[in-house]
Amino acid sequence: MSATRTTMPSKEPNRLPLAALPTPLVRLERLERELGTGQVWMKRDDLTGLELSGNKVRKLEYAAADAVACGCDTLVTEGTCQSNHCRATAAVCAKLGMRSVLLIRPEPPSEPQGNHLLDVLFGAEIRGYPRDEFEDNRDDIIGSVLADLDSEGRRPRWVPMGASEPIGCWGYIRAIAELADQLRHAGVTECDVVMPVSSGGTYAGSLLGTLLYELTDMKLWGVPVSDDVAYHTRAIADLCRRTIEQFGLPINFADSAMSFRDGYVGAGYAVPYVADIDAIRLLARTEGIVLDPVYTGKAFCSLLDGLRDGRFGQEHPVVFVHTGGVFSDFAWPQTLVERDARSYRRPRSLG
Ligand SMILES: Cc1ncc(COP(=O)(O)O)c(C=O)c1O
Repeated sequence: MSATRTTMPSKEPNRLPLAALPTPLVRLERLERELGTGQVWMKRDDLTGLELSGNKVRKLEYAAADAVACGCDTLVTEGTCQSNHCRATAAVCAKLGMRSVLLIRPEPPSEPQGNHLLDVLFGAEIRGYPRDEFEDNRDDIIGSVLADLDSEGRRPRWVPMGASEPIGCWGYIRAIAELADQLRHAGVTECDVVMPVSSGGTYAGSLLGTLLYELTDMKLWGVPVSDDVAYHTRAIADLCRRTIEQFGLPINFADSAMSFRDGYVGAGYAVPYVADIDAIRLLARTEGIVLDPVYTGKAFCSLLDGLRDGRFGQEHPVVFVHTGGVFSDFAWPQTLVERDARSYRRPRSLG
């Protein structure tokens, strides 16, 4: 992997070292043999820590550092009750002696499971809202929660969904430099990199990383698992431009730098489908690695299709970024084990 630049080209904001880094880069040789393909690698960002596992903690390292520097004592964020981001935020707060307030929609079930169970264990203050009420009054609800906390004498910091804000993008600017270094040591000179996309910060940060480090031999593919490509093109371009402006990054960004693999959302966000579950089962059986049905299963489906149709893994290796999500598997036991199409619905707790 050739990089014209190897040192951080811009002033990196402060970061709290919360994640277990670097995460391993592993080759999936048994999967390669099973499919008869070229090299497939996996960046194990599901191993950023047990409680903090997944991609979110890389972004939260910067958002939490900013909160601490500003004298904040509470992080407030939003998501569903199986949100990996909410769970990671609650874990970060517990670790730092801060409070976490999670705005959850729709209201969580009375018996917590998966990520929600961990939110409760981490002492998060959970406020549940009907989905429509939250969507229709989002800004007012967030504003009034922050104002209430202020009036109670607390110092809250808002963390947007997925910590996908300019400072959070630094998590994947740093991650892509880490990955490029590992690939270089593994003798990989050119590759495709595939990752799931939802709130967009992981892809936006990674893309900024490739531009900052001039990693011209690394092509990034985002696989939307919610919303359509037009939406993500706008949202990620906006996030990249805001990050460039806020931190004065010395790069030119054009929309044409983004590449997406369309067609893997299925019937909607957090609605699994047969190929999604099959992808999870295939990887678990061949490599002993667990994906999730909401994010990584769908993105891995896209990688498998690319391997089968020759788009990936022929001319050069392909790398999958495993962004975590394992705890939500425990909210889907029937779907994962029985592979029963009747259970391919979002659980009621996810709205
Ligand atoms: C496990 C997992 N993978 C991928 C994503 C997508 O990352 P991003 O929101 O940065 O696009 C998320 C969060 O949305 C996630 O929880």
